[in-house]
Amino acid sequence: MTLSATNAQAIVQFQLNSRPLTAINPGLQEAPLRASADAGCKQISLTYWALIRTMRKLTTLFAPARAALVPALVALLVFPLSGAAVAADAKAGKAKAGVCAGCHGVTGQSAQPIWPNIAGQGAAYIERQLQAFKSGGRTGAMAAQMAPIVATLTDSDMANIAAYFSSLPAATGKADASVAAIGEQLYRGGDAKNGIPACMSCHGPGGKGMAAAGFPAVSGQHSQYSVAQLKAFAEGTRTGPQADMMKTIASRLDEAQMQAVSQYMAGLR
Ligand code: HEC
Ligand code: HEC
Repeated sequence: MTLSATNAQAIVQFQLNSRPLTAINPGLQEAPLRASADAGCKQISLTYWALIRTMRKLTTLFAPARAALVPALVALLVFPLSGAAVAADAKAGKAKAGVCAGCHGVTGQSAQPIWPNIAGQGAAYIERQLQAFKSGGRTGAMAAQMAPIVATLTDSDMANIAAYFSSLPAATGKADASVAAIGEQLYRGGDAKNGIPACMSCHGPGGKGMAAAGFPAVSGQHSQYSVAQLKAFAEGTRTGPQADMMKTIASRLDEAQMQAVSQYMAGLR
């Protein structure tokens, strides 16, 4: 079964706004579309419906962010129906991963909080980040450390290296208990007053992300790195179709919220 991005977009709009599907795309036939959406939703139901529900609740508060989140919902619908991604070779990736160890650790768990843990992260997400460092989607002083590394990698190297690090066990960390409770509240419930959705709806209750949709795992990550990324999204040094999902969210967080939620994520498992 296949579902095109255009049709997925129509389904998402329909579910969000109760607009008739045919008003968005006159060529659509509702019944088969709904059937294929159902098939997709079976595999992704929790995250997908949690997001739809959150977004419906935040109707008035949240109009610009809603628009920014539509691509996430479309990705969630399309992916399970679009077949497997190109096969990557983790063994070939391992052979190329030696250069990464100096910063990210031999096992993809870094000893220094300025360098992110990358072990156990979704392969599609890792690959996309490597591409982003190469294409200029991620810029700034820290991203500059990655630039010379990715310059020497081909597309298939990136896919293979991503498969390798994705196969390794993820790091676990500890939260600063004095702020973790505030972070937990935000992570699990969002902040409706300021139009911030629950982080959990995309990054998952245990912070494991959703590999198929390219939503990254955030659990066990160094809090210093997570805070830096939230700032990068807000300040626009980290851009691209997926990063833009985070831009609105991150720009509504204040410094204390960024710190608290990053501490909570560091200790989450
Ligand atoms: C000189 C140190 C250094 C080396 C060597 C290095 N990295 Fe990085 N890497 C960084 C830094 C610093 C960041 C954070 C960049 C930022 O904040 O934008 C990063 C970020 C990343 C990210 C993004 C993580 C995320 O959660 O978004 C991935 C993936 C990554 N590196 C993979 C690799 C791979 C694979 C290699 C080897 C081929 C490698 N890195 C080599 C320093 C390094
Ligand atoms: C609509 C889905 C969605 C929601 C809700 C969401 N995120 Fe994200 N988040 C993403 C996506 C997609 C990315 C990857 C962006 C990219 O590829 O550049 C991401 C990336 C991140 C990263 C960077 C991870 C890394 O390894 O570099 C952090 C940190 C993060 N999100 C924190 C949060 C926090 C905190 C919240 C809640 C306040 C939140 N997110 C809510 C979708 C979401």
